[in-house]
Amino acid sequence: MTLIIRMARDSTDERLINVAARLIRDGRVVAFPTETVYGLGADAFNPPAVRKIFELKGRPPDNPLIVHIATEEQLRMVAGKVPEKALKLAAEFWPGPLTLVLPRSDRVPDVVTGGLDTVAVRMPAHPVALKLIRASNRPIAAPSANVSGRPSPTLAEHVVDDFYGKVDCIIDGGPTDIGVESTVLDLSEDVPLLLRPGGLPLEELERVIGKIEVHPAVHGGKIDRAKAPGMKYRHYSPRARVVVVEGEAEWRRKKIRELVEEYRRAGLRTGVLITEDYDTGADEVFVTGKSMEEVARSVFRGLRCLDKRNVDVIVAEGVEERGLGLAVMNRLRKASGYNVVRQRGRNSANERGNP
Ligand code: TXA
Ligand code: MG
Repeated sequence: MTLIIRMARDSTDERLINVAARLIRDGRVVAFPTETVYGLGADAFNPPAVRKIFELKGRPPDNPLIVHIATEEQLRMVAGKVPEKALKLAAEFWPGPLTLVLPRSDRVPDVVTGGLDTVAVRMPAHPVALKLIRASNRPIAAPSANVSGRPSPTLAEHVVDDFYGKVDCIIDGGPTDIGVESTVLDLSEDVPLLLRPGGLPLEELERVIGKIEVHPAVHGGKIDRAKAPGMKYRHYSPRARVVVVEGEAEWRRKKIRELVEEYRRAGLRTGVLITEDYDTGADEVFVTGKSMEEVARSVFRGLRCLDKRNVDVIVAEGVEERGLGLAVMNRLRKASGYNVVRQRGRNSANERGNP
């Protein structure tokens, strides 16, 4: 049975939160809203409970989970060492969409870290998430609440689609604010390393701690380090094939129209994920809005939405890789399996999208 609890963002109903917190303490799995995407949570100190998360998601055991905390005391509980830069970033950006990879403490079970000697920690900003962690009085291990490989959930409805009848509880807190997952920054070695771009732009982090190295996998490069185990798996993919179109705005629009025509001629049902409404000729259209915030907020929702309308191929419009755009492009390219159509003269080009 899945208990669904509807809870407004700023609800002060302690009774409802206590029901969910009790489930966490009892070793059950609870899906909850964060400011980035929904999480699938369990008591981080309860290995059998954490194992259930891996089973439910179909997640490979070597892909570790983020531990969600609500207090500095919990940070000391899960991290073995907290470097100076981590303290600086935490002071500036927590609670918020930033995950720090730190040396782990012995108290964190292996199942959480995938056996690594580091642990990923984040203090989420969503009031419901914070209340849940506080009321259960446990750090909560939680990946995004989607079946492995599917687009991340930004609405409780997405969690219901993937897990109704399978998880013990889903807290419905409405749509998430940011829409892409947290930024993951590795501070376990001397040079800070960006492992996953996310809801907190790289530029903001560099403003506080200076130069940050970017893992080559962020841009779709070859994965030569086993640092971010999540990187080697296929991600964020709807059932439909995805093609990403990257280039200047005018070229992009023209290319999208051409591709749609070509796919339709080949008998494919076609969807487009675009930032502004114009005549593409596609069967289904999802418009995100033009600002980077709007694109980030609805990129996963758009992929899921078009999938539900049974399109064979989704042509997605690329955006500029600055601010939240770095995270958006990382997710879109992954969703496409790097099936990217790029304007000539803009790096290596694949002129045709493979439907
Ligand atoms: O916004 C978010 O981060 C959401 C919400 C629920 O907090 N959570 C989330 O979790 O996106 P998940 O499991 O979908 O992604 C966690 C990422 C994975 O790429 C994983 O490989 C990486 O963090 N990660 C976790 N622990 C790590 C560690 N010790 N070292 C390196 N990467 C780690
Ligand atoms: Mg995920």
